Amino acid sequence: MLILGIETSCDETAAAIVRNGREILSNVIYTQIPLHIPFGGVVPELASRNHVEKITPVVEEAFRQAGVKKEDIGAVAVTSGPGLVGPLIVGVSFAKALSFGLNVPLIGVHHLDGHIAANYLSFQDLEPPFLALILSGGHSHFYNVKSFGDYELLGATRDDALGEAFDKVARVLGLPYPGGPHLEKMALQGKPVHELPITLLEDDSLDFSFSGIKSAMKVLSEKVDLETERANLAASFQETVFSIVTEKIRRALKRTQEKRIVIAGGVAANQRLRELLDELPAEVLYPPLSICTDNGAMIASAGYYSFQQGKCSPLTLNAKANLSLSSTEDLWITCG
Ligand code: KG4
Ligand code: ZN
Repeated sequence: MLILGIETSCDETAAAIVRNGREILSNVIYTQIPLHIPFGGVVPELASRNHVEKITPVVEEAFRQAGVKKEDIGAVAVTSGPGLVGPLIVGVSFAKALSFGLNVPLIGVHHLDGHIAANYLSFQDLEPPFLALILSGGHSHFYNVKSFGDYELLGATRDDALGEAFDKVARVLGLPYPGGPHLEKMALQGKPVHELPITLLEDDSLDFSFSGIKSAMKVLSEKVDLETERANLAASFQETVFSIVTEKIRRALKRTQEKRIVIAGGVAANQRLRELLDELPAEVLYPPLSICTDNGAMIASAGYYSFQQGKCSPLTLNAKANLSLSSTEDLWITCG
């Protein structure tokens, strides 16, 4: 079964064709980053307008690269939340029209379900149960993935998401948007010589808190000579937050007795994090760089597994800025 996956929840217009949830035939990503650079972050109104302009050529290109005709697809999967509501509406409206026009099922996909599914595209035999840790711009969440689409929340950030903390700290360091990759590059030239608070919360907690570290970075950056200390500050931030992430993973493995954890979301693209993950005494999986950040293939894959479970969406599907992964039932009706 071929599924078209569409993703427009933030600053990427993306579309992909995926076979049977596992094989990427095309994966086209148009990034709006240059559009938002002058503003230091994503401007939702500009993002929405740009998605409107780009969605048709991006979807056409996904069909062209896959060598697939529109009539050959079996369903259209689309991110319906969470994310920026204007950008989401563009993808959802486009997907609805295409599903209606081609007379194929529409499948609303939770964005995080997509990020986790990036691992199904990367590890052909991977199936639940496993632990999942999502580290993106909007989420830092631990889940127990009991079966396809069945998520138990184990812990989450109490303030900033890790990607959000990277972006805000990068700004304090005078680095451009998007902060995460720029901060990673800067950290390569420095040493973690500055001490920052290691916020682990209660002994058994799987929650995160990154706002204290963020504030400490702001205070530090005003105290030192930023020009000479920028790289050391970046390295210190990165080592501190990743020491917290790896400690929390150890806790999660211990608590659940699981031996396997998948990491997903934009921050999983960080090479230093990957090095540290590889040292953990467990099977730690993460997708290749190309599908760590937002893309349509992961949405098509997640959509495939929803479809397999008989979950399709009505044409009244709406975009939702906030949507919990453990209660997505209102996205779906029974297929067919
Ligand atoms: O998953 P994603 O593409 O979009 C969301 O769903 O949020 O994640 C984007 C986030 C941004 O905060 C970005 O700064 C961060 O992931 N990110 C990184 C890296 N690449 C992207 N953070 C640290 N190191 C990176 N290499
Ligand atoms: Zn994302």
